[in-house]
Amino acid sequence: MDILILAAGLGTRMKSSEPKVLHRLFDKPIIDYVIDCAKSLNPEKVYIVLNPSLKKVVEYLKNQDIEIVFQDEPKGTAHAVKSSLPFLGSENVLILNGDTPLIKTDTLNNFIKIFKESNIDLAVLSFYSERKHSYGRILRDKNKKVLKIVEVTDFKKEELSNFREANSGIYLAKRKVLDLTEDIKENPNKKEFYLTDIVEIARHKGYKVEAFSLAKEDELIGINTREELSLALKYLRDRVIKDWMEKGVTFYDPASVWISPSVIIGKDTVIYPGVFLEGETKIGQNCIIYQGVRIKDSVVEEGVEIKDCTVVESSHIKSGSKIGPFTHIRPESVIGRECRIGNFVEVKKSIIGDRTKALHLSYLGDAEIGKDVNIGAGTITCNYDGKKKHKTTIEDNVFIGSDTQLVAPVKIGKGAYIGAGSTITKDVPSDALAISRTPQKNIKGWAAKRRKKQ
Ligand code: UD1
Ligand code: CA
Repeated sequence: MDILILAAGLGTRMKSSEPKVLHRLFDKPIIDYVIDCAKSLNPEKVYIVLNPSLKKVVEYLKNQDIEIVFQDEPKGTAHAVKSSLPFLGSENVLILNGDTPLIKTDTLNNFIKIFKESNIDLAVLSFYSERKHSYGRILRDKNKKVLKIVEVTDFKKEELSNFREANSGIYLAKRKVLDLTEDIKENPNKKEFYLTDIVEIARHKGYKVEAFSLAKEDELIGINTREELSLALKYLRDRVIKDWMEKGVTFYDPASVWISPSVIIGKDTVIYPGVFLEGETKIGQNCIIYQGVRIKDSVVEEGVEIKDCTVVESSHIKSGSKIGPFTHIRPESVIGRECRIGNFVEVKKSIIGDRTKALHLSYLGDAEIGKDVNIGAGTITCNYDGKKKHKTTIEDNVFIGSDTQLVAPVKIGKGAYIGAGSTITKDVPSDALAISRTPQKNIKGWAAKRRKKQ
C-alpha cells in the first residue's frame, strides 16, 4: 500500500499568511500529525502533494522521509490525485487529507482490514457530525448502497438536512480505480475537479464501492477555518487529558487545562485549573501543580509542588521541592531536592543545591549555589556588566542576608555569612562574615526638633 497525503490546497479559509498545514496543534504543525500517523501504518511509501507556491511547507518537509509530488495549480482534490498517479506503484492507495490530523492509527488499521477482507475497490471513511459543517455528504439508495458524494455547495439548502453522513476525505482504493480521476469533470460551481465524484463513476463502472463510519468527528475533523482549528485543538486536549485520567492523574477542571501529547505525567499528581504543560515535559508522581502554572520542556521529579502563577522553562526541578507562587524558572536551571523557591523569585541558568531556600523577591542568574544555602529576601546576583554575563558561586551552607547584591564574578566560600544590605564585590572566604553597609548613626532628638520647627 502507498499513502498519498493531499496538501496542495491554498487554505484560503484560514485567512492566514502561514500555510494551513503549518498551523500548530500544541507543539507540532498539523501536517506532522498526518505524516506520523501515515508512517505508523508501515506503508510502501508516503507521498504528499504540495503546491510549489507553498514554499514554506516544501522547505519544512524537504528533509523528512516522504516523497513530495507537485500539483502545479490547485484545481481540486481529483486534480491533486491525478498529479500523483505516475508515482503510485503499489496495489492499493490510502488517501489522507493534510488538514485532518486527529485520525488514529487503530481506526485506519480497522479501515484497511475491512477493505481487504471484503475485497472492496474503493472505500470511503465517513462519520456523523453534530455541528453545522461543510463536509461533503454520502448519498445512499433505499438499500443503503452508496450512490455518490455531493458537496454542500451543490445541495439545495432545504435538502441538506436530510443527509447526515459526512465524507472524511479519507479513501482507500485499488490503484487502478484512481485512473478514473481522468474521467472526472470540472465542478460547475467551484470550477474544480472533485475527487468525491470518483465514487459515482466507479460505481457505474461496476467497481465495489462502500463507505464505513468507523470514527467520530473528534478524529475526523478537517481544519479549514480558525474555528475548526480551535475545535481540533479542543478534541486533542480532551483525548490527552482523558488518557492521563485513565492513568491516575487528577484534574480539578479538565476543560481549562492544556497538555501537549508529548508530555508525560506520573500517577497521583493533581492538576489545578488553568495549567499549561507543553513540549518535552515530564512530571513525576505525587506532584501538585496549582492554578495558572505553565511548564515547558522541563523535568519535574516526584513530590514537587508548583504553586500558582509560576512559569518553568527548559529546566529540571528535583524531588520534593516547592516552587512559587509567582516564580519564574528560566531555561537551563536545575533546582535540587527539597528546595524552596518562593514568590517573585526569578532563576536563570542557575544550579541550586539540595534544601537551599530563596523564598522572597530575588534574582538568581548564572549562579551555582550549593546545598543548604539561605538566600535572603531581595538578593540579587548582578550578573551583567552591560556587555557580558558573569558567574556567581555560592558554596554549601552559606547564609546570604536580605537585600544583598552579589556583583559577579564573585565567589562566597563554604559556610560564610553575608550581612543584610551588603554589596559584595570581592570573593568571601569560607566561614567569614562579609558586611559592606555604612555604619549606622543615631542622632538623638533630631526628629522632635524638626517637628517643632515646622
Ligand atoms: C473535502 C471533500 C469533502 C470532505 C472534506 C473532508 C472534495 C471536493 N471535498 O472538502 O467531501 O467532506 O474534504 O474534510 O474533495 N487539496 C489539494 N489540491 C487541491 C485542493 C485541495 O491537494 O487543488 C488538498 C487540500 O490541501 C486538503 C484536501 O485536499 O488537504 C481537501 O481539500 P479542501 O479544500 O480542504 O476540501 P474540503 O472543502 O475540506
Ligand atoms: Ca478540508
